[in-house]
Amino acid sequence: MLTKVGNNVCGRFLLKNVNSLVPCNTFIKLKHTKDDVNAHRAKVMGRGLPEKKPLPGVKSIILVASGKGGVGKTTTAVNLACAMKVIEPDKEIGLLDADVFGPSVPLMMNISGEPMLNDDHLIEPLLNYGHVHGLLVSGENAVVWRGLMVMQALERLTRHVAWAPLDCLVVDTPPGTGDTHLSLAQSLPIDGALVVTTPQSAALQVTKRGVNMFDKLKVPIIGMVENMSHATCIECGARNHMFGNETRKSAEQMGLDIIESFEADQNMSDCINSGKPAIYALPDSIHAEKYRKLANKVFKYIETKGKERAEASKQ
Ligand SMILES: Nc1ncnc2c1ncn2[C@@H]1O[C@H](COP(=O)(O)OP(=O)(O)O)[C@@H](O)[C@H]1O
Ligand SMILES: [Mg+2]
Repeated sequence: MLTKVGNNVCGRFLLKNVNSLVPCNTFIKLKHTKDDVNAHRAKVMGRGLPEKKPLPGVKSIILVASGKGGVGKTTTAVNLACAMKVIEPDKEIGLLDADVFGPSVPLMMNISGEPMLNDDHLIEPLLNYGHVHGLLVSGENAVVWRGLMVMQALERLTRHVAWAPLDCLVVDTPPGTGDTHLSLAQSLPIDGALVVTTPQSAALQVTKRGVNMFDKLKVPIIGMVENMSHATCIECGARNHMFGNETRKSAEQMGLDIIESFEADQNMSDCINSGKPAIYALPDSIHAEKYRKLANKVFKYIETKGKERAEASKQ
């Protein structure tokens, strides 16, 4: 009989002979794949997860995700939420920063201050740019979030906030395929996820991992958003594919559509980093136009999902 007494990151297990309790000094590699580890983690997390139930008064929830950091998830989530509000001003759109590890929505939406509790003891979301809601865990308070702590933080950010009424809640997620995604997908009815990627093979590989995770969690993927596809030389107009040009091939392999593609543009970066998203700061730019198109596609998607739900509830 073998007992596991320790393991290190590369998955090696030190075995002990239990009868003698003398280490046999043998390292063997166990054939645990990443999938096994993820399945085990899902099981463990599942024990502490709340039951999957809708957010009262929130009609639709979509996630903005990617495997990798720095590819433009938050930029996409922020501009998308703002564009949805711009093209359908009567709709209520929320924006939740679920990146408890490194929240950046407050900076990009120029939101500050402490959220207040209302009479129902729910946190009032902070507002900027019309009715788009932003909510934060302040950057300074970001601590080492792990497993159940992440779940509890997300529980507060979703169920203890006065979100209602909302037509759509756009959720910005942290990089990777971790506890946040698992927790969100297992506790909330997610209509779909937008997967953001840059065109280099390293980013696309982790994107593939993210797509597999959503597949397992039964979260439909709305499509892929390619960000920083290339840069255009301001002198001669030549295209520079500085991150490679692999997105189309990978999207085809994953069976996904690239629903929008954004080139790298310093104006975009300046806008978002100064707290005024391009959709407001540069409404006539190509990027703003593309975000409005993306918003339109997301509205169509959630409308179809809403109809499907209504049909299903009749049966
Ligand atoms: N299309 C773009 N053109 C230029 N800069 C961009 C573009 N998209 C994102 N950025 C910049 O890249 C950085 C990372 O973007 P961010 O949205 O924070 O990524 P993530 O949320 O995936 O970590 C930010 O400084 C942002 O301003
Ligand atoms: Mg981010």
